[in-house]
Amino acid sequence: MSHEKIETNIGWMALLIAVVISFGGLAEIVPLMYQAETVKPLPGVKPYPALQLAGRDIYIREGCYNCHSQMVRTLRHETERYGHYSLAGESVYDRPFQWGSKRTGPDLARIGGRYSDDWHRVHLINPRDVVPVSNMPGYPFLAEAAVNPVAVARNMRALQTLGDPYTDEEIENSAADVAGKTELDALIAYLQALGKNAPKG
Ligand code: HEC
Repeated sequence: MSHEKIETNIGWMALLIAVVISFGGLAEIVPLMYQAETVKPLPGVKPYPALQLAGRDIYIREGCYNCHSQMVRTLRHETERYGHYSLAGESVYDRPFQWGSKRTGPDLARIGGRYSDDWHRVHLINPRDVVPVSNMPGYPFLAEAAVNPVAVARNMRALQTLGDPYTDEEIENSAADVAGKTELDALIAYLQALGKNAPKG
């Protein structure tokens, strides 16, 4: 079939474009499914403990990902600002992962330990109290809301079904782990754990 025939027939053109694109896609995607480094957790990476898991849910519920990514790219200006670039083995237990690309605020993949819990508390209630020019919204209501222990246990159970290595004991103890904690406590516990198992440097 001559080139001209393909270019003047939209049916052939569409079909052959689809074939070419799928070859590219398959060559990139299929090997990833078999590479150990993309599915094995890095040393120290464990499923989120109950309180952090509750915090992660709040992070997603409040749409923090609309302004914050959690992926340090392999570019020098990124690694100098944030730390070691992100590796797949860090987010094995992130369902769904929070990599993202929208950065109205800074990347948060390495935020754990950078500030004190108190700083986060003030910042999340009203960001302008610590960063006057901030356009991040405040989340004061999180300090008034208690963590829902039923939701945490259900979430852990669902993740266990998907293959995350939670023990039954951890799930049974989850209600006690989050007892008396506010949603703000949970969110801060989550933020403080981000990037803790990243490679150093
Ligand atoms: C409308 C966009 C927007 C949303 C939504 C948002 N942020 Fe921010 N965030 C920012 C901006 C801009 C900054 C930088 C100024 C500052 O520190 O307040 C920031 C800074 C931060 C910092 C400090 C980062 C650093 O390296 O200094 C943390 C932590 C943070 N945000 C957490 C959150 C969490 C948790 C949520 C969801 C509850 C959230 N943000 C929602 C825009 C946003």
